[in-house]
Amino acid sequence: MTTRREFLMSSGTTAAGFGLVSSLSGPTLAACAASDKVNVGLVGCKGMGFSDLKTFLENPQVECIALCDVDESVLNNRAADVEKIRGKKPANLYKDWRKLIENKDIDVVIVGTPDHWHCLIMVAACEAGKDVYCEKPLGNSIAECNLMVKAAQKYKRVVQVGQWQRSDPHWLSAVEFIRSGKLGKIRLVRVFSYQGWCPSIPVLADEPVPAGVDYDMWLGPATKRPFNRNRFHFTFRWFWDYAGGLMTDWGVHLLDYALYGMDVTTPKSIMAMGGKYGYPNDACETPDSLQTIYEFDGFNVLWDHAIGIDDGAYGRNHGLGFVGENGTLVVDRSGWEVIPEVVSGKKRMEAVALVKGTGEGLKNHVKNFLDCRQSRNSNTNASVEIGAHIAKFSQLGNIAYRSGKKLVWDGTKFTNDEDANRYLVPNYREPWKLPTI
Ligand SMILES: NC(=O)c1ccc[n+]([C@@H]2O[C@H](COP(=O)([O-])OP(=O)(O)OC[C@H]3O[C@@H](n4cnc5c(N)ncnc54)[C@H](O)[C@@H]3O)[C@@H](O)[C@H]2O)c1
Repeated sequence: MTTRREFLMSSGTTAAGFGLVSSLSGPTLAACAASDKVNVGLVGCKGMGFSDLKTFLENPQVECIALCDVDESVLNNRAADVEKIRGKKPANLYKDWRKLIENKDIDVVIVGTPDHWHCLIMVAACEAGKDVYCEKPLGNSIAECNLMVKAAQKYKRVVQVGQWQRSDPHWLSAVEFIRSGKLGKIRLVRVFSYQGWCPSIPVLADEPVPAGVDYDMWLGPATKRPFNRNRFHFTFRWFWDYAGGLMTDWGVHLLDYALYGMDVTTPKSIMAMGGKYGYPNDACETPDSLQTIYEFDGFNVLWDHAIGIDDGAYGRNHGLGFVGENGTLVVDRSGWEVIPEVVSGKKRMEAVALVKGTGEGLKNHVKNFLDCRQSRNSNTNASVEIGAHIAKFSQLGNIAYRSGKKLVWDGTKFTNDEDANRYLVPNYREPWKLPTI
């Protein structure tokens, strides 16, 4: 992980503003000339990748000329969905993403695959001279995130990471309030994600690979295993081979604002405790309950997650509480408010009623990317540096959980536990190799 100074410099922001001012001014959509046409190809079409593509297609200059998915039924259904939106199917349908990258007509690649594929596809797209909208978490390991930053910088690509809350104005006005000092000294940032709607997944038997699925290309660099539906669409996120559970899935969205609000980057130490407390016998590998403490000078950031229940904190199922001496600012996707501290009957500050969000985060995020790529500005709202930084920060939580130790991190490695350093670099299955840049 970068030091705070390196991070600020590489992301093109300043210590004073941290990109806040420029991020606050909403992106605008320039009028569309024929020369502005943007040909997009999507890899990984089922869930968020397609939500991203639909949002891209709200912009008249965008055309979807290619889709790629290893699951033929997803591929065909999504081609039909594009036809409903734009009146014609994408010209190119691929099952192998390398063919999509080879297509010289594609300007932008959207990466909507599971996390374990992001690095290989994003780096290849950068090498081929394409700009990339890559879903979060940027990479599935610390080494991958570092490589992805190098690739974007070396090939001078414009990258937006799918952390769309970076383009939602109420999150930024919350940061402004936090930085104003009105809350008094902040002792704790309580960050929580309680996902009641995510059910436990019962253990299922392995089964034959479904017809039309190129399972070897779904696994890619991950360990070879028999096909099991639990490890496939959507629920892959609860298995270490492909993702990092809620700690990285929601962690990157929310912890990002803990660091942004407090204007810090690198913790002094990390420790984590949790487990399969809710569903000890279900199929998930990642913990259904976890608390991670990141230690900073004079305050802690607490990550707290649970699956299957909704009572996070402050009557919300997700969000952040910046706990200050005078009051607590609570922010989530719906908006932010300030709850005053009342001690011995005395209120220490005035409440701030809910400042509502616009619900336009994803739309703004895609527009910001399109604007930035047109002007060749790599400082997108969620640049590759921002995405890498928070993906690595979230990974630290999982490594602390898996190693069971309080870890000291110097920005690139753990200094008090050699064993924990083995989590930094993933083991790719042959013939896939971690890119060299
Ligand atoms: N930004 C957000 O708010 C947000 C929300 C949800 C998910 N996500 C991210 O989006 C990514 C996808 O998650 P999801 O829930 O949409 O998953 P999903 O399982 O619903 O969809 C992934 C798709 O990728 C396809 N795929 C897998 N390997 C492929 C390969 N090698 N080539 C082509 N296609 C391949 C799968 O067949 C599937 O159709 C994850 O990284 C996740 O963290 C982001």
